[in-house]
Amino acid sequence: MHDPARPTPWSAGTTTLRKQALYRELAVELGGLLADEPDFVANAANAAAAIYYSLPDLNWAGFYFLRGRELVLGPFQGRPACVRIPVGKGVCGTAAADRRTILVEDVEAFPGHIACDVASRSELVVPLFAGDLLTGVLDLDSPLVGRFDMGDQVGCEALARLIERHVAE
Ligand code: SME
Repeated sequence: MHDPARPTPWSAGTTTLRKQALYRELAVELGGLLADEPDFVANAANAAAAIYYSLPDLNWAGFYFLRGRELVLGPFQGRPACVRIPVGKGVCGTAAADRRTILVEDVEAFPGHIACDVASRSELVVPLFAGDLLTGVLDLDSPLVGRFDMGDQVGCEALARLIERHVAE
C-alpha cells in the first residue's frame, strides 16, 4: 500500500522534462494573469491560487511579505497560517535572512521549523526581491516527505523572478 508520507507515483515519477514543461506552462499562465493588474494583493492572490492548483501534492502555497524585521502573511491557499515570522526564524525567516532558497526535504529534520499546518512534511521557500531589496518569500508546503527537488527549486526560482515585480507593494 502507498505510504502517504512518501511522494506519490505522480510526483516521484515526474521526469525532469515533464517537470520543466509544467513550470513553463505555469509561467505562461502567471504571465497572463499578472500582466495588466497593478494591485499587488490581487496579483499575489491569483499567483498563490495558480501555483496551488497547478503543482501536485501541495497543502499550502502563498506569500509572506517583509514588514520591518518580520515576515507578515500575505495571500495564500491552504489552511490558516502563522501571521508573523521574525526574520531568521523557521524556514521562511531563514530564507529571508540568508536571501536564498531553502529546500527542506523533511521538516522534522529542520531545527526551528514552524509548524503552521501539522500536515506539512516538506517545504520550499524562495525569497522575492525588488532590485537588491528583499520584499518577501514565496512558500510552498507539501504533505509528502521529499516532495521538492532541484527541478522544483529551479522552476520556483524562475516563477519568483516573474512574480516579484507584480506582488511588491
Ligand atoms: N513552515 C514555515 C511557516 C510558514 S507555513 O509553512 C505556511 C516556516 O518554518 O517558516
